[in-house]
Amino acid sequence: MNRPMEQKTVWVTGGSSGLGYHTANALRDAGWTVIAGARSFQEPGDQDGIHRLPLNVREEESCAAFRKRAMEISPRIDALVQCAGVLVLGSCEETTIAEYRKVMDTNFLGMVRMNQEALPLMRKAGGGKIVLFSSINGLMGIPFQNAYTASKHAIEGYAEGLQMETRPFGIQICLIEPGDHRSGSQHTRGHAERMGPESPYAAAYASATAKIHHDETHGSDPEVLGRKVARMLDRKNIPFRKRIASPDQHLAVYLHKFLPARMNERILRGYYLHG
Ligand SMILES: NC(=O)c1ccc[n+]([C@@H]2O[C@H](COP(=O)([O-])OP(=O)(O)OC[C@H]3O[C@@H](n4cnc5c(N)ncnc54)[C@H](OP(=O)(O)O)[C@@H]3O)[C@@H](O)[C@H]2O)c1
Repeated sequence: MNRPMEQKTVWVTGGSSGLGYHTANALRDAGWTVIAGARSFQEPGDQDGIHRLPLNVREEESCAAFRKRAMEISPRIDALVQCAGVLVLGSCEETTIAEYRKVMDTNFLGMVRMNQEALPLMRKAGGGKIVLFSSINGLMGIPFQNAYTASKHAIEGYAEGLQMETRPFGIQICLIEPGDHRSGSQHTRGHAERMGPESPYAAAYASATAKIHHDETHGSDPEVLGRKVARMLDRKNIPFRKRIASPDQHLAVYLHKFLPARMNERILRGYYLHG
């Protein structure tokens, strides 16, 4: 869909790869001015119709510099889409505090920092839309993905209060809850340093990480997700939660909500640890 709406501007964090990359492309195709940020965009520049700016969401100065440069490109911000995220696989016991800190600092506090850059601008402009990439792991835990799961649960709770506070200023919040997508991130993800063959969890860890890898490799198409997010942002009113997942992952979230905890645990242990 190409229509004259060049004046609308969106910032996309984590726009260098995976879901953020595809979402940025879909928004550009839909006519938005897209300003994408990532650490690997080392210098400001334009590519394929997208403005690329360096951004490290773990550093306040970097977030402020992104805002300043983005405002020079376009003085308005109509939407902020936050995709930047990292994942470290590991047992609860052996994932180090530094590894937990990195994941929380990127996935959760990174979003908080960028929201704090965007919110004053949106308030002054009388409104805006903020899309936060959560996950179905923001709704349910799975073994050995614990730091990530904790960060996505933090986002889910934070976003509820954020929406209540900002609705009077015309700001709409949406949590995107993707299931597994073939984003390519499975090739770059970190394993906790202590997860060696001597770990007491080694066998269970091998089984779970093989399942996680399989599910992502056979996951949904990230391009389709990007188009869904772009279509959604085009609407006057956006939903507070949007799950983009395969039918079996929708079912898993549904069961998690309604089944007793012990039954859920048996199902998920069976799936991840006895594959
Ligand atoms: N793929 C899935 O199946 C899936 C499922 C559910 C939720 N999600 C969520 O969707 C989002 C994107 O995931 P993905 O799978 O597309 O991952 P990805 O391909 O690894 O992309 C992650 C993006 O985050 C950026 N990033 C990481 N640390 C950053 C930092 N400190 N500052 C700025 N940017 C940073 C990366 O760019 P640089 O390295 O260049 O900085 C990259 O652009 C994440 O929030 C993830 O949790 C993904």
